[in-house]
Amino acid sequence: MLNASRRGCRKKITTIEGLKGTLVQGAFIEKFAFQCGYCTPGFIINCHTLLQKYPTADDTVIKDWLESNICRCTGYQEIEEAVKAVQDQLKNGSRE
Ligand code: FES
Repeated sequence: MLNASRRGCRKKITTIEGLKGTLVQGAFIEKFAFQCGYCTPGFIINCHTLLQKYPTADDTVIKDWLESNICRCTGYQEIEEAVKAVQDQLKNGSRE
């Protein structure tokens, strides 16, 4: 996690390294949701944020949300499955 206070911003920034050991990282591994080295970090961060803001997002919301991370190489199915796997874990009491 970075601290952006040098630029006058007091917000914390979470990078892909900050999501090590999280449910979303585990779900990407479990569901083989990895793509290339360019888009995968973005997808993981994107899914993490989605799950924080909308932990019970339905299929429509998940698909709309993932459209912001563009990859023309995949159909996003495994990534959507990873999001749903985390949602199931959250329903069962796991914490992200
Ligand atoms: S696999 Fe990364 S941009 Fe398509």
